[in-house]
Amino acid sequence: MIGADLQSKGYMKMSGAETGNTVAVILAGGRNRRMMSKLPKAMHKIGGIPMIGMVYNAVKAAGVGRCVVVVGFGAEYIVDYMGARVEYAYQYEQLGTGHAFMTGMDYLGGYDGRVLSLYGDMPLVSKDTLSALIQQNTETGDQGTLVYAYMQDQRKYGRIVRDKGGNFAKIVEEKDATAEEALIREVNPGIYCFDAAAARIAVRGLNTDNAQGEMYLTDVPAAMLKAGGRIGLHKMEDSRECLGVNDRADLEELNRALYMEKCRDLMIKCGVTIMDSGNTYIDMGVTVGMDTVIYPGCVIEGDTAIGEGCVIGPGARITDSEIGDRASIAYSVVNESKIGREASVGPFAYLRPGADIGDRVKIGDFVEIKNANIGRDAKISHLAYVGDADVGANANIGCGAITCNYDGVKKYRTVIGENAFIGSNANLIAPVTINDGAYIASGSTITDDVPEDALAIARGRQVIKEHWVSRKGFKRG
Ligand code: UD1
Ligand code: MG
Repeated sequence: MIGADLQSKGYMKMSGAETGNTVAVILAGGRNRRMMSKLPKAMHKIGGIPMIGMVYNAVKAAGVGRCVVVVGFGAEYIVDYMGARVEYAYQYEQLGTGHAFMTGMDYLGGYDGRVLSLYGDMPLVSKDTLSALIQQNTETGDQGTLVYAYMQDQRKYGRIVRDKGGNFAKIVEEKDATAEEALIREVNPGIYCFDAAAARIAVRGLNTDNAQGEMYLTDVPAAMLKAGGRIGLHKMEDSRECLGVNDRADLEELNRALYMEKCRDLMIKCGVTIMDSGNTYIDMGVTVGMDTVIYPGCVIEGDTAIGEGCVIGPGARITDSEIGDRASIAYSVVNESKIGREASVGPFAYLRPGADIGDRVKIGDFVEIKNANIGRDAKISHLAYVGDADVGANANIGCGAITCNYDGVKKYRTVIGENAFIGSNANLIAPVTINDGAYIASGSTITDDVPEDALAIARGRQVIKEHWVSRKGFKRG
């Protein structure tokens, strides 16, 4: 069904017309039982980016123009995220990595160039490793070139078995390894460069005669060798690149490593002060300017840009937002918003999508702003809700003031002019306009527009009833 959907969206072609010399095939169709997730493993994020995106970026940066992703379990999530950047081959049954690769090769039809095959669960792979592998394969003319890495803890990986002459003999999986093979520290990261025609023949001969009853892609190189091909090995210099994610513990380990690395980069390369890297989580795509100080407990996500000389945190969660120079934000949540220069937000403020906070604005404690433009130098110091509004420069919105923007069906806008003063606990029933310099008396419920320079009072008058308490016999004490 999904396969048919992909075809109808034009993401799948039944036979691929080849472009360029190398096509990448990324395997991301597995059932991922070890992750225990409804999401396909490749969609889990590392440093804020789904793993499939990171692998794809490396492939792209290595200069490979055409990329086929083998999808199966949870295919729709991957297709949604990757869109038309790649092509898709649908693996209807998850019968192992060899079967997934075969699905990709079938998709490529008669393509007879070079195939770079890798897994969607190895997010740290670098473009340098990929291009060096492709280059070695091109230069040697080998039918296959495999990356290998030397690991201190080899347990989660297939092992590279060499023959007596030290040449590649086969890959053996952990579960199929003899006691002797299990000791081998040269492992298979799962990055292969094949001659497509030779690989196509080898993959057809795969069987499921192994501990997991699956078709292993790892058996392809040995089969090519048996058929008379040459298989070369390419060493991965930094073995951390091959760290794969197979369960949530792996995911945490990699995330932690990447967050630490991001903090280090910001400190060393960008002049950012980070008080405690172990308690700071900054996505890879985030930029931070010089002399900004980041206190512990901050989560800075997605496409966020923070200016210079800011003070961020403690305890800020900032997502997809732009923060101007010298702004400060503490104990607050900021989502899809913009904060101007020298503005101050929090503690305990909530900026929801579309909050555009001007320069030097003060947003104080327990203030919520949504879809609103707040002009420069305005003050909303405490306990207010401003939604669907345009607030002019230097306006003052008092404690407990609220824009009543929703009638249960539709949302309406409130316009507050420059230098306007909104008294405490005022309710502004939208749609309504408070013109420049107008005053709203505390506790007013404003339903009609207020002219420039005017005072609007809309509250019951106070009545004093002398001696009412003792007359009632309510006197206390
Ligand atoms: C694989 C390798 C192992 C290597 C390790 C590196 C095999 C048999 N083993 O093991 O030698 O050391 O990666 O990380 O290849 N997939 C499909 N369809 C399937 C099965 C898997 O598309 O039917 C995809 C998965 O979504 C995943 C990738 O293939 O992205 C690898 O599968 P995984 O189960 O993680 O293999 P490993 O056990 O890690
Ligand atoms: Mg894996």
